[in-house]
Amino acid sequence: MASRILVIEENADLRHTLWKTLESGGYEVMVSSDGLQGVRLWEHGHPSVVIVGATLPGLDGVGVTAKIRGSDAPGSRTPIVLSTTAADTEQKVRGLRAGADDVLVHPVHPDELLARIGALLARVSSGETGGRGRILAFYGAKGGVGTTTIAINAAIALGRELKRKTALVDGKLQFGDHRVFLDLDAGSRSIIDVVRSATIDEDLLRSTMVRYSSAIDLLLAPPTPETAELVSGDAHHMASILGHLRRMYEYVVVDLDQHLDETTLDVITMSDRLFVIMTADLACLKNVRLLLHALDQLGVPEEHVQLVLNRSTAFTGIGAADAERAVGRRVEHKIANDYRRAVVGLNSGTPVMMGKGDSPLGKAVLSFVQQVDAQLGAASPAASAS
Ligand SMILES: Nc1ncnc2c1ncn2[C@@H]1O[C@H](COP(=O)(O)OP(=O)(O)O)[C@@H](O)[C@H]1O
Ligand SMILES: [Mg+2]
Repeated sequence: MASRILVIEENADLRHTLWKTLESGGYEVMVSSDGLQGVRLWEHGHPSVVIVGATLPGLDGVGVTAKIRGSDAPGSRTPIVLSTTAADTEQKVRGLRAGADDVLVHPVHPDELLARIGALLARVSSGETGGRGRILAFYGAKGGVGTTTIAINAAIALGRELKRKTALVDGKLQFGDHRVFLDLDAGSRSIIDVVRSATIDEDLLRSTMVRYSSAIDLLLAPPTPETAELVSGDAHHMASILGHLRRMYEYVVVDLDQHLDETTLDVITMSDRLFVIMTADLACLKNVRLLLHALDQLGVPEEHVQLVLNRSTAFTGIGAADAERAVGRRVEHKIANDYRRAVVGLNSGTPVMMGKGDSPLGKAVLSFVQQVDAQLGAASPAASAS
């Protein structure tokens, strides 16, 4: 039996084109021009895929996505493709956040449309869209607090100790230092190789990720600061990359830049958890207060944000309880002070978690990821991909 596809699109030309193309690909097509009516068709028509336009009367594309994903019906996991024009980049990010599986930016060549729908259906039948991976973003309240150290070691602990399929993304595009921390050579493939390509897809990402010691896959930052612009120039490159990665991995760990530009904000809004790394000093406390306020303004749900006090056992004259009082929030995680291990790990290019993990730092990071994993539960979007 032919797979049935529901197209919800306001623009009559586009609706017609999608319809004809899909029909020529052998699909059975249902169409609607209205969001609410589209949701009713989804309820009764049991399509295999929904293609929904970003802007619609009644309920827009993001609203339709949220409604389907939020429903108790068995079809609530139906693959959804958000269809948009390049100008609707904001919708794109919101759509991915709401749970869309793919974004189609028009104009799209008919062959590409059919290829994408085919790939999506293949993934469904292999069970791959049964869930989605979690994005864990790490943000330093100021430079030098240990954000990169914690992000890298947390990713390794997830991959090596918890056996989760994990990707580590260096989101510090201009001065990313994962190459140095992990002792990789400057010529390693990077995010630049992804954004230089005309279309970003899973195959491309798979061939760009650098395997690290059979524990995790890395998406490295551009090799030089001036090339970073190629990524951040289109603020939504990162969003589309993360949209793919979270279907390929159980966890996507992102080491963020401190600068709150659009790329960083996209990652923050897409993440399932934002870990704010801080130390117990006045500059950090001030920045955390400002950051929490900014995140609130941006509509980031409070429960997505957790504070991590690094070097918590170091004496600074400010204890964890004082820090909590100062920022008006609980510190959810504490990482012990272990300068010797941290710095030897760094200078030797072998992170602490690659060792036996019996040091204070190793233990603290492991217990941190165990808590995170327990809270977020096992989502295995890509168990079949290798
Ligand atoms: N828990 C820790 N205990 C002691 N030193 C640490 C700890 N975490 C990180 N460091 C050290 O702090 C310095 C800055 O770490 P880094 O991860 O580069 O910070 P950031 O990414 O926030 O700039 C490094 O020398 C690192 O070894
Ligand atoms: Mg860093």
